[in-house]
Amino acid sequence: MAGGSTTRDTVLVTGGAGFIGSNFILTWLQSTSSPIVNLDLLTYAGNPANLASLEHDPRYAFARGDICDPQLVAALLREHRPRAIVHFAAESHVDRSIVAPDAFIRTNIHGTFVLLEQAKLYWSSLSGPERAAFRFLHVSTDEVYGSLGAGDPAFCETTPYAPNSPYAASKAGSDHLARAYCHTWGLPVLTTNCSNNYGPFQFPEKLIPLMVLNALEGKPLPVYGDGKNVRDWLFVEDHCAAIRAVLERGQPGATYNIGGNSERANIDVVTAICDLVDEFCPRPAAASRRNLIAFVEDRLGHDRRYAIDAGKITRELGWTPAQPFEDGLRKTVRWYLDNATWVASVRTGAYRDWIAKNYADRLTL
Ligand code: NAD
Ligand code: TYD
Repeated sequence: MAGGSTTRDTVLVTGGAGFIGSNFILTWLQSTSSPIVNLDLLTYAGNPANLASLEHDPRYAFARGDICDPQLVAALLREHRPRAIVHFAAESHVDRSIVAPDAFIRTNIHGTFVLLEQAKLYWSSLSGPERAAFRFLHVSTDEVYGSLGAGDPAFCETTPYAPNSPYAASKAGSDHLARAYCHTWGLPVLTTNCSNNYGPFQFPEKLIPLMVLNALEGKPLPVYGDGKNVRDWLFVEDHCAAIRAVLERGQPGATYNIGGNSERANIDVVTAICDLVDEFCPRPAAASRRNLIAFVEDRLGHDRRYAIDAGKITRELGWTPAQPFEDGLRKTVRWYLDNATWVASVRTGAYRDWIAKNYADRLTL
């Protein structure tokens, strides 16, 4: 473990070396003096280089470990006495959950259970203002609500759960456990369900960074099915701002949907990426990267459309997304082009194995 923090203001973050967690920690420490302890196992998706700028920051401490380890979680809670836990740690990629669901059940369901149980014991030991102020913020996804048709209203907090992938089902299970710990024991849990994030530090197995890097390298751009599946996209820093708002002002026991008001069909996202890469790095023969688009065999059980009604968090907590999608996408493409060292550091042998496993045998349509 590096660094140290013992004040009552500390926040324990899980999964802080991943995409959203590292953006959360970086933006948190820009806007507040509260120390952060980051518990992360450093799976393939966790990268301490994301937080290299904090190496000498006394407000930041890192603990490498597993959220499924109750002794470790208890020891961290005893040592740091946090005022809150912000729980990001998860297996997060739908395609991997289709190939190998086991890790999703273990980390997302059992790991969340271990954290909730240890949080309950810790919170029960507090008294007075410390006990009243404690929060457990569980970061979840809109995918728990299932799939929408073209004309259906967007997901709101009362939409029934209907998860379709092993990833979504494991997150739904964790949401139900979080709810149960609040209902049964009064643990002050807040749950957020957010749409697709994009931005710096996203592991290049997800749509946007994968397409940026393939386009840059002149590789095929594998669009699943007819490319008309729709996702709502939110710039990661907007998600981080929403989590800060929920942590500070959210109602314990409540859930909040978070979205970007930016529904886009996958094919439109991919063509926009092609045009940005063409603009920043013109090809010598001036051939558009759009020529690289390849429609490939669909994802099993592929959800057609996600859309978020974020009216509750806007009305109750005053949060709205600040970054228009086209501006955020431009920034994101630029970030991947400017951070070749980071990109090289995450595209290890294990990464190449995953790409081969997911794409090599996929038929082109
Ligand atoms: P990510 O895959 O980039 O990062 C996950 C992090 O968790 C990694 O640093 C990994 O090392 C760590 N981790 C995994 N298993 C662990 C374990 N057993 N113990 C400790 N650490 C472990 O994920 P992300 O995209 O940053 O997502 C973070 C959270 O936000 C997840 O809970 C995800 O379900 C949720 N979410 C993500 C999105 C999105 O678009 N990426 C949207 C909505 C919600
Ligand atoms: P992804 O980034 O994996 O997020 P999620 O599945 O959680 O929404 O995928 C976003 C969309 O892009 C989804 O509809 C699947 C599609 N997709 C492709 O068409 N090709 C790809 O290579 C990937 C990774 C995703």
